[in-house]
Amino acid sequence: MFLPLAHQIWKTHLKPGDLAIDATCGNGYDTEALAKLNLGHLFVFDIQEAALKATQNRVGKIKNISYYLECHSLFSPIQEPVALIVYNLGYLPGGDKSLTTKVQTTLLSFEKGLKLLQPGGLLSCMLYPGHPEGLKEKSTLLGWAAALDPKKFQVSHHEALNRSRAPSLLLIQKIT
Ligand SMILES: C[S@@+](CC[C@H](N)C(=O)[O-])C[C@H]1O[C@@H](n2cnc3c(N)ncnc32)[C@H](O)[C@@H]1O
Repeated sequence: MFLPLAHQIWKTHLKPGDLAIDATCGNGYDTEALAKLNLGHLFVFDIQEAALKATQNRVGKIKNISYYLECHSLFSPIQEPVALIVYNLGYLPGGDKSLTTKVQTTLLSFEKGLKLLQPGGLLSCMLYPGHPEGLKEKSTLLGWAAALDPKKFQVSHHEALNRSRAPSLLLIQKIT
């Protein structure tokens, strides 16, 4: 329900030539959506070779996309401020469920990600509380995000009021 909203928000937010990060490429649906938005460069991360391959197969060879088999708590190749960082937490659909995103590394990645955002830049994260690690991630990340300095970040969370375990969307925009 909120993933199409996230895609719409990315489209409105990004300008041609912007830099963006897909922090959890999985099967490449989000990368594919971002690849259509005239970006200057898109940095794509996953910890699974199979995910990077699936994404490359979906998107095809495009010169302004680079792929990294690396934990998103590092973001080691990124040297410039970016306009957007997207996360779609959880595990690779149809893959090994133990290779899910984990709250400690996701939190480290958020901390690093907020430093990498340019003023006005946006962090977008789909949360999946329908499995145990996802539930932990949701409560820890929301608590952490709610404590961010309101002079520096605008934080919102979009969730269904009548489905407690449904995916939800966290947005953090850097003001300055
Ligand atoms: C729900 S899937 C992402 C779906 C994807 N965005 C799409 O459009 O198909 C989550 C992905 O996060 C990856 N992942 C788990 N831990 C990670 C980490 N520490 N750093 C980067 N990727 C990670 C998993 O391997 C999995 O492919």
